[in-house]
Amino acid sequence: MANAFLFFLLLIFSSNITFENIHACNQSERSSLLSFALTLSSPQLNWTSADCCNWEGITCNQGGWITHLQLPSKGLKLKEGIFLSSSLGNLTHLTHLNLSHNSLYGSLDQTEFFLSMNDLEILDLSNNLLFGVLPSSQPFSHIQMVDLSNNRLHGAVSSSFFQEAWNLTSFNVSNNTFSGPIPSSICHPSSSSLRHLDFSFNKFNGSISSGLGKCSKLQVFRAGYNYLSGSLPEDIFNSTTLEEISLLRNSLYGAVSDRISNLNNLTTLDLSYNQLSGVLPLHLGKLSKLKHILLDFNHLEGSFPFSLMNCTNLVELRMGANNLGGDISMLNFSKLSQLSKLDLRQNNFFGILPRSLYSCKFLKAIRVAYNNIEIKIEPEIRSLKSLSFLSLGMNKRLTNIKESMRILMGCKRLAVLSLASSFLGEEMPNSVEMADFNGFQNLLILDLNSCNLSGIIPSWLSKLKKLLVLDLNNNRITGSIPSWLGTLPRLQTLMMEFNQLSGEFPKELCTLPMVVSGQTAAQVGRIYLELPIYYSPGAHAKLLQYNYIFYTPFIHLGHNCLSGNIPIEIGQLQLLHQLDLSANNFSGNIPDQISNLKYIEVLDLSMNDLSGKIPASFTGLNFLSRFNVSYNNLGGPIPSSTQLQSFNASAFEGNLKLCGAPLPNKCETTTGVDTPDISTQDVDTKKHQIPWFYISVALGFITGFWGVCGPLVLMRKWRYVYYHFLDNVQDRFHVMIAKRMASMKRRFG
Ligand SMILES: *[C@@H]1O[C@H](CO)[C@@H](O)[C@H](O)[C@H]1NC(C)=O
Ligand SMILES: *[C@@H]1O[C@H](CO)[C@@H](O)[C@H](O)[C@H]1NC(C)=O
Ligand SMILES: *[C@@H]1O[C@H](CO)[C@@H](O)[C@H](O)[C@H]1NC(C)=O
Ligand SMILES: *[C@@H]1O[C@H](CO)[C@@H](O)[C@H](O)[C@H]1NC(C)=O
Ligand SMILES: *[C@@H]1O[C@H](CO)[C@@H](O)[C@H](O)[C@H]1NC(C)=O
Ligand SMILES: *[C@@H]1O[C@H](CO)[C@@H](O)[C@H](O)[C@H]1NC(C)=O
Ligand SMILES: *[C@@H]1O[C@H](CO)[C@@H](O)[C@H](O)[C@H]1NC(C)=O
Ligand SMILES: *[C@@H]1O[C@H](CO)[C@@H](O)[C@H](O)[C@H]1NC(C)=O
Ligand SMILES: *[C@@H]1O[C@H](CO)[C@@H](O)[C@H](O)[C@H]1NC(C)=O
Ligand SMILES: *[C@@H]1O[C@H](CO)[C@@H](O)[C@H](O)[C@H]1NC(C)=O
Ligand SMILES: *[C@@H]1O[C@H](CO)[C@@H](O)[C@H](O)[C@H]1NC(C)=O
Ligand SMILES: *[C@@H]1O[C@H](CO)[C@@H](O)[C@H](O)[C@H]1NC(C)=O
Repeated sequence: MANAFLFFLLLIFSSNITFENIHACNQSERSSLLSFALTLSSPQLNWTSADCCNWEGITCNQGGWITHLQLPSKGLKLKEGIFLSSSLGNLTHLTHLNLSHNSLYGSLDQTEFFLSMNDLEILDLSNNLLFGVLPSSQPFSHIQMVDLSNNRLHGAVSSSFFQEAWNLTSFNVSNNTFSGPIPSSICHPSSSSLRHLDFSFNKFNGSISSGLGKCSKLQVFRAGYNYLSGSLPEDIFNSTTLEEISLLRNSLYGAVSDRISNLNNLTTLDLSYNQLSGVLPLHLGKLSKLKHILLDFNHLEGSFPFSLMNCTNLVELRMGANNLGGDISMLNFSKLSQLSKLDLRQNNFFGILPRSLYSCKFLKAIRVAYNNIEIKIEPEIRSLKSLSFLSLGMNKRLTNIKESMRILMGCKRLAVLSLASSFLGEEMPNSVEMADFNGFQNLLILDLNSCNLSGIIPSWLSKLKKLLVLDLNNNRITGSIPSWLGTLPRLQTLMMEFNQLSGEFPKELCTLPMVVSGQTAAQVGRIYLELPIYYSPGAHAKLLQYNYIFYTPFIHLGHNCLSGNIPIEIGQLQLLHQLDLSANNFSGNIPDQISNLKYIEVLDLSMNDLSGKIPASFTGLNFLSRFNVSYNNLGGPIPSSTQLQSFNASAFEGNLKLCGAPLPNKCETTTGVDTPDISTQDVDTKKHQIPWFYISVALGFITGFWGVCGPLVLMRKWRYVYYHFLDNVQDRFHVMIAKRMASMKRRFG
């Protein structure tokens, strides 16, 4: 028995040796590998034994030729000043080369690199630091997969690169800087086996010429995030095997052809952020496998294709920011049992929001803001157990805030609630009315912007322990700012501009944990949202899109009736990015401590009764991009810094004793410039002069006042940023203003 066992062991041992002998690697290949290893600074590869076929990452064939070199995610780094070695080009029998997810640096246009890799089938160099251009032609007749994604390659992708690539199934060059046209002739007339094409995140330009229709097996075509223009190539609709078309973020124009309904297997259609126009194909809904249809931010018009309501597999339906219209009550959602995200924001839908929407049990996000839809919040909405994003504002006739809030409190997952411009003129539900309050425990963003709500800031808000953003801009809220706001553990964005708040700036607000401590802010981190939110940094700036709540430590309290001193404790809010206290009645000096706010980008203290000097320490505020202290009682020289002098004189005007650049009046250098004393009369003649209705709406700048207690001054260009945190839509802005002005005319006659 023991002998038999020994014999068995011997057998294995000897057979192993024979095996190794057969595989003994070719010495010249061994030296090619070694010279590659020599170029690496880290890590040390354990490539020491005689037979290179046993080395890590190496596989040989029967003849001892190296066929596989696979060292993905090994942290490979080249020595300083050394490029990716061309020695690998000598491995003439290589079929699999996978060096993805390393830090390899170098250019591929050293033609030697691929020189003799005639047998290559799999080439994966993705996620490295490769640059240079692709060789225009390669003898890659056996190649099946090319992944060069996430590098820094540039230049054109020449069609001749694929000339002999009969068996290519997948080609991925996403996230490089390739330019020129998409090589549409990549598809060979006879033998194309291409299934996956990914050109996204490059600089490809020009129109997509025809040719892709010849790829008779194409399943995925991605070329999003490029500079492609022209219309969708007609012949792509001949590729009936297509399952995904993603061409988002280009400049494609023209209509979506009716022939798209040929693509029976299509599951994903993403054409968002282009300039597509025209009416959507009536029979789009023939695409019965559709799961994701994203057409946001185009110029599509006409009626919504009702046939889509037959696509029972739909998960995501996003058509926001178009000119689509129609009676939304005609849509019957009851077949869309998989629907998770619905975004029809900023279109021309009207009619009553259909109840059938509540039958989509998996809905996580609903956004229909900026339409003319008649909304009523029905108790059935509570049956949407996953609902976390709800944006219904800027529509018609949403009334009864108390009842609405009571219902919505039952949506336990709700994280984003936007009801802007609703409940016009109602009263903020007070804490008695919200007595059995146990809802909104997951609320992150509460947006009641432009609701013209009266009442005070209710204490039930103090129970929203996860609240990050509170947007109550443009209401008629009275009373003082409660000190408990400063204790909300996650509050980072407080928007209460254009209200009638009075009293002082509470010292306690200076202890907001998220703004005081970077550690707290970091702990909260980025929070993913089911739908993106938009933010425009300026009136004419491009709309930015965020799929998460970004860190916006802002306090906007402008255009209220706040008074007293700006507390010196303000210096504790050291992470604050924006502070707007404009158009209030703040008096006293500007606290020196504001210069502790090292990251401050927007500081607006204009139109108050502040006196004294502009603190010299303001010269240390390096991130200021908007600054305004105009129309106060400030005096003395404007401190000199590259930052402060870069603003227009308008940022300082209306302070009679203020002097120095950029104001035209020079400072008297002889007498030590002292804090000037300006009589309040001066101030009064300067302010309170121009009745609100002269304020020009036509200028397109925000001009509304709900209250009459803040100093009324002709609004100037600095006041152009209308801030609606969640759905910042600049071009709808004038509609809002017009509405508001009309309502004020009624109120003030
Ligand atoms: C080793 O490879 C070289 C070419 O790289 C070839 O000339 C030589 O014949 C090979 N040796 C053996 C033993 O196969
Ligand atoms: C690769 O092959 C070329 C010639 O074919 C030779 O000059 C070069 O030295 C080889 N490189 C290595 C590292 O073996
Ligand atoms: C290096 O590889 C050999 C076999 O090829 C092995 O015996 C040895 O333990 C390895 N050394 C290290 C440090 O991994
Ligand atoms: C390369 O290796 C990585 C890591 O194992 C793997 O995920 C990837 O699929 C490989 N590439 C190819 C083209 O097979
Ligand atoms: C292409 O693939 C087929 C099937 O796998 C194979 O028979 C043929 O040899 C391959 N052609 C080339 C040029 O590699
Ligand atoms: C593109 O690659 C860079 C690294 O080169 C990476 O940081 C970035 O996230 C990638 N972008 C995308 C969209 O994958
Ligand atoms: C291409 O590569 C990128 C990054 O590696 C990856 O995210 C993407 O899914 C790939 N495309 C296809 C079609 O597989
Ligand atoms: C594509 O971009 C290049 C420069 O990046 C330019 O020379 C060329 O004219 C552009 N092509 C088209 C069709 O716009
Ligand atoms: C698409 O297919 C139709 C037939 O189904 C054919 O008549 C037409 O020429 C094809 N279009 C292109 C551009 O290949
Ligand atoms: C569509 O997909 C099904 C199932 O995946 C497949 O059997 C069928 O061949 C595909 N049709 C086309 C035209 O590719
Ligand atoms: C939806 O499908 C049904 C049956 O399959 C069909 O009768 C109806 O016309 C379709 N509706 C639309 C709007 O296409
Ligand atoms: C919606 O369609 C379902 C069947 O799919 C039907 O039972 C229901 O009555 C329809 N609802 C409306 C409002 O048409």
